[in-house]
Amino acid sequence: MRLPDRVIIVEVGPRDGLQNEATPIPTAVKVAFIHKLVEAGLRQIEAASFVNPKVIPQLADAPDVARGLPNSSGATFSALVPNEKGLDRALEAGFQRIAVFTAASDSFTRKNTGMTVDESLAVFEAVVRRATSAGVSVRGYVSTSFVCPYEGEVRKERVREVAERLLALGVDEVAVSDTIGAAGPVEVTRTVEWVLGRVPLTKIALHFHDTYGTALANVLAGLQLGVTTFDASAGGLGGCPFAPGASGNLATEDLVYMLDRMGIVTGVNGRKVVEAADVVARTLGRPLTSAAWRRMRASGGECTVPP
Ligand code: COA
Ligand code: ZN
Repeated sequence: MRLPDRVIIVEVGPRDGLQNEATPIPTAVKVAFIHKLVEAGLRQIEAASFVNPKVIPQLADAPDVARGLPNSSGATFSALVPNEKGLDRALEAGFQRIAVFTAASDSFTRKNTGMTVDESLAVFEAVVRRATSAGVSVRGYVSTSFVCPYEGEVRKERVREVAERLLALGVDEVAVSDTIGAAGPVEVTRTVEWVLGRVPLTKIALHFHDTYGTALANVLAGLQLGVTTFDASAGGLGGCPFAPGASGNLATEDLVYMLDRMGIVTGVNGRKVVEAADVVARTLGRPLTSAAWRRMRASGGECTVPP
């Protein structure tokens, strides 16, 4: 078994992590959270989304969050964008990277963005062209790559087709995403191996939620195929309001812990990720789900994650 020596973690906590929280989170807390994530060594951070603020009011303060981002930190901050209006807002806020999002099932994209997959790709054509000509790089999500909350099992052929179409538009990375956290490692191997039949390894990221506790096993399946980019969310925060049954994302600190134990370099300090997540936990006033965060609380506030 040949595993990668190094992995890039894309921190999605400030966006995927916070978009579904019922408790309003002050902008200053979001900004402090992001600063702490940078201090923890994260270099790819999805910081905001420029969607219809009436649909996702939790992230309506995206322009203010953008103003609070650390300068010259060495980190790249990205923003989720659904259409040209979102692109205009992200460009105005100064983002150098955006993420567009579609899915491998039409029922999900209809609920999420009011479009079919084909319609969303047609919208992205102009978004990606304008972004790249402005020097802004683009990532693309394929949500519901394994299971759709409305349609059930998703075919691997469909995932590869949507991934290839995103790449043809000019995205530089496709995040194959288990939006509701339903997949297990055998399905991950099957679908990702199929996608890799046409898509280079360097263009694939994997995005897991941990609804049934399978996220780390799914990461291992990805590592065994040679994937080197994984999304995660500090504290295991997260969820999508249009993905019923989904729970939090794979927790960044739990991913860092496992990769550290495997001798795979991430450049991220798990203890500092727990401290970042704790900033949000204090505002939410409820426990977080990551194993590392629970260990910290169980040991009276002492963080037991090795630095
Ligand atoms: N930013 C801010 N406002 C936007 C916007 C954007 N990117 N895109 C559309 N809007 C506004 C329009 O100005 C319009 O405002 P009004 O009601 O004040 O007139 C309203 O949203 C409806 O516009 P329309 O073009 O008809 O969009 P829609 O209602 O078909 O919604 C999306 C399409 C994609 C904008 C909307 O479904 C959305 O924001 N979805 C995001 C879902 C999400 O973030 N899910 C979690 C991530 S997986
Ligand atoms: Zn997600």
